[in-house]
Amino acid sequence: MQLKPSLTSAISRLTADHVPSPRLNAELLLMFTLNCDRAYLHAHPERELTTGEQAHYGAALAERARGVPAQYITGHQEFWGMDLIVTPAVLIPRPETEHAIETVLELVRVGRALLPANSIHVPTANSSPLSNANYIHLHIADVGTGSGCIALALARELPQAEIHATEISPAALEVARANAARHQLESRIHFHETDLLTGLTPETFDFVVSNPPYVGESEEDQVQLEVRKFEPRHAVFAGPTGLEVITRLIPQAHAALLPGGWLVFEISGTIAAPVQHLLQRWDDVLLIPDLQSIPRIARARKPLR
Ligand SMILES: C[S@@+](CC[C@H](N)C(=O)[O-])C[C@H]1O[C@@H](n2cnc3c(N)ncnc32)[C@H](O)[C@@H]1O
Repeated sequence: MQLKPSLTSAISRLTADHVPSPRLNAELLLMFTLNCDRAYLHAHPERELTTGEQAHYGAALAERARGVPAQYITGHQEFWGMDLIVTPAVLIPRPETEHAIETVLELVRVGRALLPANSIHVPTANSSPLSNANYIHLHIADVGTGSGCIALALARELPQAEIHATEISPAALEVARANAARHQLESRIHFHETDLLTGLTPETFDFVVSNPPYVGESEEDQVQLEVRKFEPRHAVFAGPTGLEVITRLIPQAHAALLPGGWLVFEISGTIAAPVQHLLQRWDDVLLIPDLQSIPRIARARKPLR
């Protein structure tokens, strides 16, 4: 069969199976099958698919039709401009999580004065505030690294930062390590298989960053079926209320941070009010909305004694 009719019939099949964005999914899986880009699909409508390619495409479509996210079929997801490997052992990185990266970078950019004094090392007197970020010897912890997306993005943006990434799932840690190697960042990130920040040196970090599990089991029926069925449960659900991991993370982050260091973590609108309450003894607490105006990132500064 030729490429164009294969694509048309795939779109009809995914539409009939109620897969959202059927054209996008059909194209993505065909690009994956043929190892090509979208321009190639449109430039070669008459290209014959081999029997092997047809079988491969059919199998990928069948997986997608039964609800498997396209990223688990292709094994890839983009985050912060980087192509990351994903397997069912890790949460598929979401665009909202990029707000956590932006928040950290903004805190670094807006002023060294806001950071603990001993993390500053500026080699020239006249370097601009933005370039200063490259010279600050920051210590950053990424808690629950999953695919490694947060740790990798920060390692790439802050070339002098030392990053420690923690994860409770050994299978997820393997994916994070593979991603670090793939992007030549393995020497910059120290991976730890541990519960939250257990075992990391206290009062060391300028930033603790996390996208922790924050969905409550009581909200389970509001979570997309695909997420519930295919993404790792311990990555999504924290416990009955959704606050269980964050409640433990906040005091651990307090112990791990230097005075004046920042805790930055992802939240949902549902838990925004209790999170604000949990942070009442911290300074400069701010809940930052995402593009849909939903509170998405909590940031707070450990008081300077
Ligand atoms: C919401 S996912 C986030 C993954 C990744 N950071 C991201 O943003 O896509 C939460 C991650 O935390 C890990 N996790 C859950 N409980 C943990 C714990 N107590 N200690 C360390 N990691 C934990 C899960 O295995 C999962 O990889």
